[in-house]
Amino acid sequence: MCGIVGYTGNADVGSILVSGLRRLEYRGYDSAGVALFAPEDAELTVVKTSGKIADLSASMQEELPATKHFSSMGIGHTRWATHGAPTEANAHPHWSQNHEIAVVHNGIIENYAEIKAHLVAKGYTFSSETDSEVIAHLVEQCYQGDLRAAVTTALDRLTGTYGIAVISVKHPGTVVAARKGSPIVVGLHDDETIIASDVSAIVSRTKQVVFLDDGDIVTATGGDVEITTTSSTPVTREATLIDWDTDEIEKGGFDHFMLKEIHEQPAALATGLRGRLDETDGTVRLGGLRLTPQDMARIPRIILAACGTSYYAGMVGKYYFEDFAGIPADIQQAAEFRYRNPIIEPDSCMIAISQSGETADTLAAVREGLMKGATVLGICNVVGSTIAREAGRGVYLHAGPEIGVASTKAFTAQITVMAEMAIMFGRTRRLSAAVGRDMVRELARVPEIAAAVLEREAEIKVIAEKYAQANDAFFIGRGYMFPAALEGALKLKEISYMHAEGYHAAELKHGPIALLDEKVPVIVPVPDLPDKVKTIGNMQECRARKSPVIAIATEGDSDIDAHCDDIIRIPRCHEFVAPIPVVIAEQLFAYYVAKARGCEIDQPRNLAKSVTVE
Ligand code: M6R
Repeated sequence: MCGIVGYTGNADVGSILVSGLRRLEYRGYDSAGVALFAPEDAELTVVKTSGKIADLSASMQEELPATKHFSSMGIGHTRWATHGAPTEANAHPHWSQNHEIAVVHNGIIENYAEIKAHLVAKGYTFSSETDSEVIAHLVEQCYQGDLRAAVTTALDRLTGTYGIAVISVKHPGTVVAARKGSPIVVGLHDDETIIASDVSAIVSRTKQVVFLDDGDIVTATGGDVEITTTSSTPVTREATLIDWDTDEIEKGGFDHFMLKEIHEQPAALATGLRGRLDETDGTVRLGGLRLTPQDMARIPRIILAACGTSYYAGMVGKYYFEDFAGIPADIQQAAEFRYRNPIIEPDSCMIAISQSGETADTLAAVREGLMKGATVLGICNVVGSTIAREAGRGVYLHAGPEIGVASTKAFTAQITVMAEMAIMFGRTRRLSAAVGRDMVRELARVPEIAAAVLEREAEIKVIAEKYAQANDAFFIGRGYMFPAALEGALKLKEISYMHAEGYHAAELKHGPIALLDEKVPVIVPVPDLPDKVKTIGNMQECRARKSPVIAIATEGDSDIDAHCDDIIRIPRCHEFVAPIPVVIAEQLFAYYVAKARGCEIDQPRNLAKSVTVE
């Protein structure tokens, strides 16, 4: 949530900040601002606006005097409001009282009210409702000639989470940044340094990055970078080479990142399978787990923890671990995990699933799991993300950057990875080589299955447009189709703002069926699987209440035709793979409903891509 960019070097700082902020806009987009330094008069200029980066860019054109030369350092921010409305006053950067220091902040300062009261008593005046503004005044109060020392002392007084970047007129060309619970990445490039909350703001200038650890404070001046701890001890952090291409963070001819990412699924899934499937032994090789067959055979229970779409992927994962490996598995809302004092038996395995690897609740669950002695594995997409690093072992999705706020390719990649893990765990137990081989062969078909759904895009668009003006919709399913129904409903509501609910098909008659009538479409994933007959019964119940039924059914399965109003076809596949084509069809359905309703698909209202606050 929120995005930070900081720059020190000789290039045009304004345009570097704006282009970095554009890359970060998916993280938060209700207001934005920059602080720029003009060396000739040793002054900072702050430009802020409510709205998006395009609005900020326009304000910069209008407000920045053409005669003034801004260079050597600057910081910028795109905001997702927590404390205070998304107004210009609440946008970052925030000034110190003397206007010599500017600060941008991601995270939440929990003791800000107490610090604010103290600062007000000392004569400081506040111009925003944010928790973040206290940091600027506090750094000023702590300043005694050394910016890093002032930041270090100020941070010591804060409770909560932060990723910050700070500049001061007294230190031309220097950016100080720090992290605790909110990521900061440092991009290294010759005689310049670009600091950001996310590598996507950096990769167009450099692929050589350092991920700060919690408690790290970085001081960058041009190309000189020094990292210290909160006790001012210098530390060394290894640089990582990012393998993302700039093309991967462009729309590549698609109208939206979401549509591009839906279309990337065959390739993303192929990358996530490459080099991992072992058809000879009917198993999968995942080196990053760092578990021996003996370790895997001993796992008594698996606890999955995640939020949102990743949570629904975890529900599918639970079925895999129980069905293939015979290991009891629970999926937990990450937000509840640490507050419930969960029971973790010796040798238990905890799997944290997070596309971004930065979700605050999932990260807290990881820490709780580690503290209670679980073997914690991360399933993340973003390389070097906090969850991936703190878990210390796990599997990367290799799905490429996901920019659209609605998660798409991450979901299908997550369940593919969990199928791989479940086969691998299963082969240390009751799963035979013969069955393992069948499953591995079916997994190898996943990219082609995904591609076949994309070929149905035009048909799905027509159906989506037919129902686009409904106010409410239900998604129902059973077995593997239950989590797929939940995910379909989430996708639809978050990008189209149509109220949608996901239910187990059998649960409808325990209450929600009261809401059905001819205005409420029901979307029913019903592939040609053994429980199909029961789902057809539930479809009949819906139609008896006059609800239009849209089935997502297997190609060539004519049993469904008489029980629905519209059909979206998916290829024939094994039951465990079926959530992939079903969810891709639901993604396209949601996309075209949202488009027909004129919604801002990549940046839905009130949302942000990465939820780094509780
Ligand atoms: O990065 P994560 O996978 O941890 O994110 C979890 C959720 O915030 C995320 O899946 C969210 O629900 C998406 N907007 C869904 O499309």
